Amino acid sequence: MTPEIVILTGAGISAESGLGTFRDAGGLWTKVPLEKVATPEAYAVDPEFVLGFYNARRQGCVEAQPNAAHHALARLQKKRPGDVLIVTQNVDDLHERAGSPPAELIHMHGELRRALCAGCGHQWGWEGDMALSDACPECRSNCVRPDVVWFGEMPYRMEEIYAAIAQCALFVSIGTSGNVYPAAGFVAEAAQAGAETLELNLEPSEGARLFHASRHGKASQIIPDWVEEILGA
Ligand code: APR
Repeated sequence: MTPEIVILTGAGISAESGLGTFRDAGGLWTKVPLEKVATPEAYAVDPEFVLGFYNARRQGCVEAQPNAAHHALARLQKKRPGDVLIVTQNVDDLHERAGSPPAELIHMHGELRRALCAGCGHQWGWEGDMALSDACPECRSNCVRPDVVWFGEMPYRMEEIYAAIAQCALFVSIGTSGNVYPAAGFVAEAAQAGAETLELNLEPSEGARLFHASRHGKASQIIPDWVEEILGA
C-alpha cells in the first residue's frame, strides 16, 4: 500500500464512544497505575490482576459503538480506496466496526480482541473474559495474555508504518496526546519526508508545535467536517 494520506489515531477518537482515554482528567492512568497493568513485569507479578483489567476494557469495547469520527474515516477510505492508511494506537475495534478495511488499518499497539501466548508467541482471536486457566491452542501452556503491546515492548508493523509515512503527502494525527513514542515521533518523520501535517484534537497535544496546521474540537464534530472537505476538494 502506498497511501497518500496516513492517519494516526489515539484514545481521543474513541472517547465519545464511551471508552476512556489515558491521560485526560479521569483517564485510565489516573485510576490505575500503568506499571500495575501495562508492562510485562506487571503480568509476571500478578497476571490475574492484569487479565482482569483487560477483561473490563474488552467488555467496554464490546458495548461501545463507533462514533461519527470512526464512520467519517471509514467513508474516506471507501471513497479513496488504497489512498488512506489508518495507524491506530487504540486496541478497540471501533475502526473496523465503522467499516475501515482491515488491509488499510494497522493496530500498532495490538488488539483487545486478540490473545497472545506469553510462552510460545502464538496469536489468535479472542472473545469474552480471559483467565490463566485458558490454555494456548498451540503449546497448551497457561500463560495467555491479551495481544496488547505493553510499555517496554516493540509496537507492531513499525517498518510498514515508517515506509508509509516516508512517502505520504499528508499526515494527520487525531485524538492523541503525543506523549508516547514511537507514535509521538511520526509527525517529525512525516514533515522531514516532505508531507503536510495536520493535528485534529480536542486541545493542542504535546507535539502541537510540530504540525503545519491544527484544528481543535471534539472528534465527532471536526473529523466529519474535515473528511467532507477532503472529499469535496
Ligand atoms: N475528541 C478529540 N480528541 C479528544 C477527545 C475528543 N472527544 N477527548 C480527548 N481527546 C484528546 C485529548 O485531548 C488527548 O490529547 O485525546 C488525547 C488522548 O490522549 P491519551 O489519553 O494520552 O491517549 P493516547 O494519546 O491515545 O495514548 C497513547 O499511551 O498508554 C498508552 O498504549 C496507550 O495507546 C496509548 C498511548
